[in-house]
Amino acid sequence: MQIGVTLQQYLLIEQKKNSKVDNDLIGLFGDITVACKNISNAVRHGALYGVLGSAGSENVQGETQKKLDVMSNDVFIHSTERNGYLGAMASEEMDDIYHIPDQFPRGKYLLTFDPLDGSSNIDVNITVGSIFSILKNPKGTGKPDTQDFLQPGTQQIAAGFCLYGPSTMMVMTVGNGTQGFTLDSGIGEFIWTHEDIEISPDTKEFSINTSNQRFWEDPVKRYIQECKDGKTGPRATDFNMRWVASMVAEVYRILNRGGIFLYPRDTKDPSKAGKLRLMYEANPMSFIVEQAGGGSTTGYERIMEIKPEALHQRVAVILGSKNEVDLVRRYHQ
Ligand code: AHG
Ligand code: MN
Ligand code: MN
Repeated sequence: MQIGVTLQQYLLIEQKKNSKVDNDLIGLFGDITVACKNISNAVRHGALYGVLGSAGSENVQGETQKKLDVMSNDVFIHSTERNGYLGAMASEEMDDIYHIPDQFPRGKYLLTFDPLDGSSNIDVNITVGSIFSILKNPKGTGKPDTQDFLQPGTQQIAAGFCLYGPSTMMVMTVGNGTQGFTLDSGIGEFIWTHEDIEISPDTKEFSINTSNQRFWEDPVKRYIQECKDGKTGPRATDFNMRWVASMVAEVYRILNRGGIFLYPRDTKDPSKAGKLRLMYEANPMSFIVEQAGGGSTTGYERIMEIKPEALHQRVAVILGSKNEVDLVRRYHQ
């Protein structure tokens, strides 16, 4: 029997060489893993735990909430609010930031999260996940407000996602490479199984929801058309396509075997600059992908350099294998 390195042990190893990894951050990761293990357990039990179906409510973005969206949001709050690591948190499922209740100590970190990503897949038993990003409260342990959250992605201290797939996995970065951990349910620990994940710079696989094709901007239309033209087209290569409709699953696939993921800006609803949200989807995923050697852009700018204007701001996302992302970026120039 081989004894693996746990996520906490990885962080303790990392702490020796990375000044950003302090005891509070390690503690916060501990709390986040508690949240993810609980959500994983609920997801795995599905109908047995009565967690499928709609909650009959809408979030601030006008999306119908699933029971599991609401439940996962509560799990994140209750797992992370009491130990003095967080000053406040923000989530896809809450209109405003959530302040740490007065009975608990206030910490120096801010947490943003998408408690359940890929919600349309819950009821059909396809991979979903949770995404999170950790920032420092510019006020230290002072009471933060919404403005304090609006930091560009380059300021992230750590980011990660947990994947509830055939196995439960945590993929994370503290700015020193991208690491993958697999949940060993027998011991209840995430074990370091994927060290320094690297995205191959080239790929023949793209992911986009082509039902939106008529709404895309010209550079994206051109890029996807050239992929589809295959061997006899300008790229002289046959491409393959995948679309799970869970960003966590797409990004994990890209981390493993390369690929490019696009949820571009489109004209379907001109008031929205894309579908995905900057603070708890695009930024953490960009950090993870860049730390694995991949690229991440809106087509016009590096996602992590955007100065956020609102908590639930949407953004175009193009990320994955570096050379393909660069090509799409050049088409936008
Ligand atoms: P969420 O479930 O958190 O709202 O996010 C779903 C996102 C993302 O995971 C996925 O890539 C995309 O929405 C799928 O969108 P379409 O249904 O438009 O394909
Ligand atoms: Mn999401
Ligand atoms: Mn979600």
